[in-house]
Amino acid sequence: MTQQQTVYLNGDYMPLEDAKVSVLDRGFIYGDGVYEVVPVYGGKPFRWAYHLARLTRSLAKVQIANPKTDEQWTALVTDLIARHPWNDQFVYMQVTRGVAKREHLFPKNVTPTVFAMTSEFAPLPAELLSKGIAVVTLPDERWLNCDIKSVSLLGNVLARQAAADASATECLMFRDGLLTEGSSSNIWIVRGGKVFAPKRDRRILEGIRVGLMEELCQASGVELEFRNISRKEVFAAEEILVTSATKEVVPATKLDGEPVGDGKPGEVFKKLHAAYQQAKADARNA
Ligand code: PDD
Repeated sequence: MTQQQTVYLNGDYMPLEDAKVSVLDRGFIYGDGVYEVVPVYGGKPFRWAYHLARLTRSLAKVQIANPKTDEQWTALVTDLIARHPWNDQFVYMQVTRGVAKREHLFPKNVTPTVFAMTSEFAPLPAELLSKGIAVVTLPDERWLNCDIKSVSLLGNVLARQAAADASATECLMFRDGLLTEGSSSNIWIVRGGKVFAPKRDRRILEGIRVGLMEELCQASGVELEFRNISRKEVFAAEEILVTSATKEVVPATKLDGEPVGDGKPGEVFKKLHAAYQQAKADARNA
């Protein structure tokens, strides 16, 4: 039997099925809100300070007054995790502008809606790591503020579904001929043993794994460069890596139906995956 999920909504804890918001919530009507997904290892939120900083940034960028102090956010997440028995979890947190009569303009004197839930973080299927995933290329048709972790995810949802319809797990999106990111992940390519990733600007969400990968590359003696990456370079990659809170780091071994490199998870992936596992173990023991 699965453990009952207790969620947080606007100051109260309750069973998931009892958590309800108004149909006039701006999150429902306009997708007017932001969110975070935080992995938890050994009961501890991983890279929490970075997630909190990104949430603060996202709120500021969409001009929603941060409804909590950093200490209150930390207390909320700590409390939510403690209410569940799983060692490894991932916490989902969302803030919307609140409930108001439907009108595009920001409503005045509205209280943001705050929601948080947690789920068990089951180990990734071994096959994902031993065989890798298939990815397909797609045009990036999203808006131009992808650095905001907004709940307006229709572009991402359509891209993810298009990838699934093409029998792939994730997509690699391109804007003006340049690699941006996946539907819900950041993308890395390996050429000549060196890792390349798209520049961190508003065309992509700067994943919390981006900073982590920077540290892991450095610790593993792998060179890393952030710069524009063309379609041609992606197709010439020896390896392609995909990172996110929930996928951690996985190899993409098939691109538009063709093998990436020799079609097997590569050496750079293996190195960075081992370093990632070490970072998790360190966080558990901290
Ligand atoms: N998505 N880019 C996009 C568009 C994403 O949605 C995500 C994460 C990432 C990776 O960011 P991070 O390393 O912080 O997880 C990049 C989460 C997991 C989601 O929407 O479920």
